[in-house]
Amino acid sequence: MAVTPATWTPSSWRSHPARHQPEWPDEARAEAALAQLKAMPPLVFAGEARDLQSSLGEVAAGRAFLLQAGDCAESFHDFSAVSIREKLKILLQMSVVLIYGSALPLVKVGRIAGQFAKPRSTPTERVGDTELPSFLGHMVNDDAPTAEARVADPERMVRAYHQSAATLNLLRAFTKGGFADLTQVQMWNQEFAAGAPEGQRYEAIAVEIERALGFMRACGIDLVDSPQLHQVDVWTSHEGLLLDYEEGLTRTDSLTGDWYDCSAHMLWIGERTRQADGAHVEFFAGVHNPLGVKLGPSATSEEALELCERLNPARIPGRLTFIVRMGVERLAATLPGLLRAVGEAEHPVVWACDPMHANVFRTSSGIKTRSFDAIMAEIEAFFEVCRAGGIWPGGVHLEFTGEDVTECLGGSAAVLEEELTARYESLCDPRLNARQSLDLAFRVAELMRT
Ligand code: PEP
Ligand code: CO
Repeated sequence: MAVTPATWTPSSWRSHPARHQPEWPDEARAEAALAQLKAMPPLVFAGEARDLQSSLGEVAAGRAFLLQAGDCAESFHDFSAVSIREKLKILLQMSVVLIYGSALPLVKVGRIAGQFAKPRSTPTERVGDTELPSFLGHMVNDDAPTAEARVADPERMVRAYHQSAATLNLLRAFTKGGFADLTQVQMWNQEFAAGAPEGQRYEAIAVEIERALGFMRACGIDLVDSPQLHQVDVWTSHEGLLLDYEEGLTRTDSLTGDWYDCSAHMLWIGERTRQADGAHVEFFAGVHNPLGVKLGPSATSEEALELCERLNPARIPGRLTFIVRMGVERLAATLPGLLRAVGEAEHPVVWACDPMHANVFRTSSGIKTRSFDAIMAEIEAFFEVCRAGGIWPGGVHLEFTGEDVTECLGGSAAVLEEELTARYESLCDPRLNARQSLDLAFRVAELMRT
């Protein structure tokens, strides 16, 4: 069981320095929105968060792998059954590739149903000729390039809650109601990917899986009564950035009496808000969900150890995942020391690689992008460093979408610089498209095998 510090309450974070919180223009309206959230049903159940934590415990022990992926920022505008289904499809396809390739269980966690708040490097941004307050995610303000749109509106937290509830509802229906049935494995192949090399490679695995199922059936194995074949667990996660929202959805579990942040199964603390004396660490130290913390290029062993002590003093495997996002060079220089320090202190963390956030750059025409090769290079370096340190490379954390967008450069169907504007739809960071994601899954599966 995790440990809630004696002085902790869902609002004790308020007496700590809280970075990246919006300035609500009207305090009374912010309080009213918080009161509404506190009155809402939880989005997830504590028992589910415990199940995820025990699955992550298997990852910590080197017996499973974590795939955490989804949008950089979910959108109030792009909200439909189709977009949720396409994201789930690519997640399921990647899962098939990874499980088939590694023969290991895969823990599937979406950046979904709550990923609406963004930390930004600067409080203002230039759009064309005007300087505007930065877009902070649809939970806070709107992305439209006007001063009015950028005013923080606390009622957006309530709207984000409702959109998360609807998203999670459909996700549960798809994952438990037949769509994710392994006999549907061919159906998840997207039309635009099906004819491409990675789509065909996927198809070949799908055929093999169907053959294996047919073999089992012929041997008299009861496939109908094996829920593992018909349902999957896809857990939800988001960056626990906006603490008003997280506090508003924090509840005590009626079974154990423990506190859980019921906005998602797993929450992570971002690179910009992981200060040991800060409000985010204070808040998440007290809830019992499995947690992630991003570790960027400046992370030190002392910081990592302090985070272990603050967030997982009871050393529960699966409670804490370090999501490393350093860029290939800093990773090689910094990660070995972190692995050693945490290992020597015998903290059972999951080590995962986010190869996205240190690899953003702007093209000469100013478009924010990432290159597929740099992303792959960071994952490869991560595997190499972990293996050299005798540590299980536990997972990958990605920004992707099921649509055929052109936001990241390269991949087997190389997206070229001049094509970036064709279908650039991300509200924030550039995401891998479906083909690039599938391509990446095949390469990660190969890394896992070697
Ligand atoms: C993110 O995951 O979208 C993000 C902002 O990451 P980081 O905290 O690692 O910069
Ligand atoms: Co991002």
